[in-house]
Amino acid sequence: MRQLDRDVVIVGAGPTGLTAAHELTKAGRSVAVLEARDRVGGRTWTGEVDGATLEIGGQWISPDQTALYALLDELGIDTYARHREGSSVFVDHDGNRRVYDGEDFPVGEETVRQIHRLVEVMDRYAAEIDPDLPWAHPEAKQLDTISFHHWLREQVDDPVAVDCVGLFIAGGMLTKPATSFSALQALLMAASAGSFSHLVDEDFILDRRVVGTMQGVSQALAARLGDDVVFLDNPVLRLEWTAEGVVAHGADVVVRARRAILAVPPNLYGRVSYEPALPRTQLVAHQHQSMGLVIKVHAVYDRPFWREAGLSGTAFSPTSTVQEVYDNTFHEDARGTLVGFVSDEKADAVWALDEDARRKVILDDLALFLGDEAREPQVFYLSDFGSEEWTRGAYATSFDLGGLHRFGPSQHDPVGPIFFASSDLAGAGYQHVDGAVRMGRRTAARIVAELDGSPHDPTYDGVASPFEVTA
Ligand code: FDA
Repeated sequence: MRQLDRDVVIVGAGPTGLTAAHELTKAGRSVAVLEARDRVGGRTWTGEVDGATLEIGGQWISPDQTALYALLDELGIDTYARHREGSSVFVDHDGNRRVYDGEDFPVGEETVRQIHRLVEVMDRYAAEIDPDLPWAHPEAKQLDTISFHHWLREQVDDPVAVDCVGLFIAGGMLTKPATSFSALQALLMAASAGSFSHLVDEDFILDRRVVGTMQGVSQALAARLGDDVVFLDNPVLRLEWTAEGVVAHGADVVVRARRAILAVPPNLYGRVSYEPALPRTQLVAHQHQSMGLVIKVHAVYDRPFWREAGLSGTAFSPTSTVQEVYDNTFHEDARGTLVGFVSDEKADAVWALDEDARRKVILDDLALFLGDEAREPQVFYLSDFGSEEWTRGAYATSFDLGGLHRFGPSQHDPVGPIFFASSDLAGAGYQHVDGAVRMGRRTAARIVAELDGSPHDPTYDGVASPFEVTA
């Protein structure tokens, strides 16, 4: 067993933990990062599957994600635009396929009007909500104690409009049924991206990708940290703490440090045994944040055949198993790759099928959207973060109904020397790699100030917020 003495021990080598380690090292502090898996990157993960490179985890960057862009600049990593030329496809509630251009789903004039109305209301609230303090909104409690679905139904009397709008936050972002989380949680998601209009605009939210891979960002950070800093295959299952510091026990490394950062998603806080136990506030609060569930579908073809039919590869349906599809062709790859998403209860149903039936139900949907050729991919792969012990779902965690205003205010409080940080706790960039980078920077800055004994704004992350809050 190796024994190390460091200023800070970081649990988790995802983008949050590695950004924190990078910032602390730049500030002259010594760090050790203990990672449970045999790789860095956490929920960003790139795999080689049957000769194809696939982004199994996080990959897209939107223009507001300025903290991630600043990090990419620092690391000398370029980005490229997602292919988006051509028409989109929508499959309606009756299974009818429609090809369309422009921003509005082809769902009938009155429903389009109702969708616009909902987007307007969501945008108005999102502008009033500070993503770092959603519980401070004057209507926070009211908005947090009604489900997003029921709140949408209160705004408009059009179930199709409600499903179309719900798709973007329930299936598309929080990856939970719209009845299981609150309107405030949905509005936080919108505020964290600058507006709800940004979330419904796939050209904004899925704007660019990194040249190389998103996991490569974590690999570049780990390489900069050098030897003897990141220790893989070292799950921390025991954390001793006092007011002075911590002792973190990995599989073959024990780190004594003045501070610890738990850079893991909140649903995994309970995997660690704390000695002494965490206080009541955290013991209770940590039970109310859970992961969503989404299957990311990858299908690789000899060429992007849909482009020949004038299609962009973008397709939506609030009712089919695969709710959204995009062209996900890798940078300078002659082959064509589609990515699709199967969310929440639909994902439960798909995982319950045997492998052949699962493949069939998904490829039937891709064929309905983009043509029969979609049935014969060269490579077919489903990202399964739900069965990854060190994640347990995708994309990220959110509070249960009523939990955000009740437990959110304590989520950034350290317990003695233990700080909590991950994209799940971010304001701007919530649930995204950008939020992970912000939380890594912010937590490192808090610890440096604390160790230096200097005053500090706990929300400072050194990157200007991309948005203005109006209330
Ligand atoms: P993350 O989960 O990445 O890292 C935590 C690390 O802690 C992991 O490496 C884990 O193994 C480790 N760990 C856990 N418990 C431990 C313990 N006890 N001891 C030691 N180590 C432990 N984002 C985006 O910006 N654009 C996108 O397109 C997508 N798409 C997307 C798709 C899919 C399928 C997923 C799963 C996720 C995304 N995301 C995304 C989200 C994005 O990947 C996510 O927000 C960040 O990776 C979060 O980074 P963190 O470092 O906070 O946690």
